[in-house]
Order: sequence, then structure tokens, then C-alpha cells
Amino acid sequence: MNSVLAARGLVKTYGDVHALAGVDIDIDPGDVLAVVGPSGSGKTTLLHVLSGILRADGGEVFLDGRAIGELNETGRSELRRTAFGFVFQSGMLVAELTAEENAALPMLLAGRSREESLGAARSWLTRLGLRGLEGRRPGELSGGQAQRVAIARALAHRPRVVFADEPTGALDTRTGQEMMTSLLQAAEETNAAVVIVTHDQAIAGRAHRVVDIRDGRIAAPDHSGQVPA
Ligand SMILES: Nc1ncnc2c1ncn2[C@@H]1O[C@H](COP(=O)(O)OP(=O)(O)OP(=O)(O)O)[C@@H](O)[C@H]1O
Ligand SMILES: [Mg+2]
Repeated sequence: MNSVLAARGLVKTYGDVHALAGVDIDIDPGDVLAVVGPSGSGKTTLLHVLSGILRADGGEVFLDGRAIGELNETGRSELRRTAFGFVFQSGMLVAELTAEENAALPMLLAGRSREESLGAARSWLTRLGLRGLEGRRPGELSGGQAQRVAIARALAHRPRVVFADEPTGALDTRTGQEMMTSLLQAAEETNAAVVIVTHDQAIAGRAHRVVDIRDGRIAAPDHSGQVPA
């Protein structure tokens, strides 16, 4: 298979809640997939299972054809640091670190030298329009600037897939769209696939494909081929 990431029959239950009730997905390199659906439908659970944060109760996730369920916790955490990048709703930057240190963090954790990591971080911050702000701490940045630091952090180690859970949720419409533009450009430069959970139709509309999750399953598109609103 050519998919960078694939899932077959994913099941995740919490007590009697079927957070995921059999999800199949194929994501190609460079693909941009929006995940939409009502609150509680399983979107975050899907992201966490696809990225190895959570282990599925059934089914399997394949990265480059290799089953990640066979990895132990160390293997999965290595995978999260190297193959995947993450952008969350409110950035989740480390308050005590500067913008460039935050962006360099995944590379530093992966054992790359400080010089190489900070060099890559600075170059991404420049590409994302943050030149001159490298030494600021998250509290000294606007919401949109902080999210661009989060994009730099997610991309600097050149992951295969970037996962974003409501990355524009805390931003106004225009800043959210700008952030999406930055994310898509950065991902395109590195041919990373993007999986983005969003409640915002305008953000979802910029993905190559939209997957609608209802009660832990992918809802079938209607006759027009459109996912129901
Ligand atoms: N750790 C947990 N323990 C128990 N139930 C959970 C847990 N995490 C999620 N759930 C339940 O699983 C279902 C799916 O949750 P999930 O967080 O994936 O929804 P979501 O689509 O991301 O919702 P939202 O749009 O509100 O973020 C919900 O019913 C939720 O209550
Ligand atoms: Mg969620």
C-alpha cells in the first residue's frame, strides 16, 4: 500500500461508550484530511489512536504499512517524536521556553544536537513570518503568533503526518484562516500529510478531503458526494 497512514476496523470503547466503532482510513503522503462531526462523536479519540497516543481496543493502524499496535510504549513514543507532529487548540507551548526553544523541542527530545535543533527551529520561524520573535516566551506572543510557533514545532523535525485538533479553535476567523494557510504551506513543503479536526466549515473546506464522524463511525457521503453538514 502507498498510504503513509492507514487504519482498519479501529475500535475504542470507554465502558459502554463506543468512541470508535470500526473506522477505516487511508492517508497518502501530502494528503490533507479534515475530520468533522458533532461533539463527542469520536474525533479526538480517532486522532489519538491514529497517532499512537491511545492504543485501539480493536483494529490496527499502519504507518508505511507497518502495524504500530505491535510496538511497545517506548516504540510508540519514539514514533510520536519522529514520524508525527502535533498542533493543539491552544498551542501547548512551554511557558518558560522561548519561541525557538519551543520549536526545537521535538528535535532536542529526539537526541539531535542543540545547534542543529535551534537552527531548524529558527529557519521555520522565519518561514512562518516570526523572524525577530525567536527569543520571546509564549506569554509575549499573540494567539496567532503562538500557533505559528506550534506549527514550527510540529514541522521542524519533518514528520510524515501532522495531527491538529481544533488548531484554530481559540483564534478569530481571520487569524484562524491565516494559521491554516501557514500549516498547509509548511506541510506541503515537507510533503507531510495533515489530519485536522475542526468544527469550522471554512477550515474544513480547505482540506483535500473531509471525513464526517458520527457515533464513532465514518458517515457515508450523501448522493451528491458531499458530506452532510
Ligand atoms: N478518557 C475517557 N474516558 C471516558 N470516556 C471518554 C474518554 N475520552 C472520550 N470519551 C468519550 O468518548 C466519546 C468520544 O469522545 P471524543 O473526545 O473523541 O469526541 P470529539 O468528537 O473529539 O468531541 P469534541 O468535538 O467535543 O471535542 C465521547 O462520548 C466521550 O465522552
Ligand atoms: Mg475533541
